[in-house]
Amino acid sequence: MKKENNVAATAAHVRQLLTGEGSGHDWWHIQRVWNNAKSIATQEPSDLYVVELAALLHDIGDHKFHNGDETIGPKMAKEWLEQLKVEEEVIQHVCQIIKDLSYKGAGTSSAMHSLEGRIVQDADRLDAIGAIGIARTFAYGGHKNRELHNPEINPVLHDTFEAYKASTAPTINHFYEKLLLLKDRMHTETAKKVAEERHSYMESFLAQFYREWEGSL
Ligand code: ADP
Ligand code: NI
Repeated sequence: MKKENNVAATAAHVRQLLTGEGSGHDWWHIQRVWNNAKSIATQEPSDLYVVELAALLHDIGDHKFHNGDETIGPKMAKEWLEQLKVEEEVIQHVCQIIKDLSYKGAGTSSAMHSLEGRIVQDADRLDAIGAIGIARTFAYGGHKNRELHNPEINPVLHDTFEAYKASTAPTINHFYEKLLLLKDRMHTETAKKVAEERHSYMESFLAQFYREWEGSL
């Protein structure tokens, strides 16, 4: 009962913080990730409480909106969970997941040290691909004042997190720098299956995009 209350209170807290956010990291993204994570967790012998808390809190203090500060998310999550008097062990696990979750560039690894972490990472990454992934990526690009596409600027497979974070490239490049690479980085069988279909959808989108770009009527 206590656990259920903590999950519900966390959802309400995050909803209040992220409602109306305009770059694709809004409450509805969190709700989708939460749902994805719960579905994946039914197929894995995992601690659902940790999965739910980490899914709900994973974007509360994103480095992209705090001058690249990667410590702010885990810090905000820790303060909130301490307020709820969640056990220290659970707080540490949830904060570790939030810290390790982010994509850090094509040439970098984003190791996840627990099954619960791998579930939340898959859940978050499923929301980065497919139709919603496409929508979120252009929303983010607009939020950051990026060009949609510029054929004179080639994608870069960043091999450090710093280089990845510093990129100001057009939005189409993000497909090659991240989105099309996610399918092969999924951990769970459930997410791998869903990712196949969402990946093909993005490939069709890009093919159509280039056909229209070339103006072949
Ligand atoms: P992660 O949780 O893996 O770190 P992010 O929060 O960095 O993911 O990104 C979430 C979504 O925001 C991406 O899947 C994409 O839709 C959008 N996004 C992030 N960085 C960029 C970028 N440089 N260009 C376009 N979209 C981006
Ligand atoms: Ni997210």
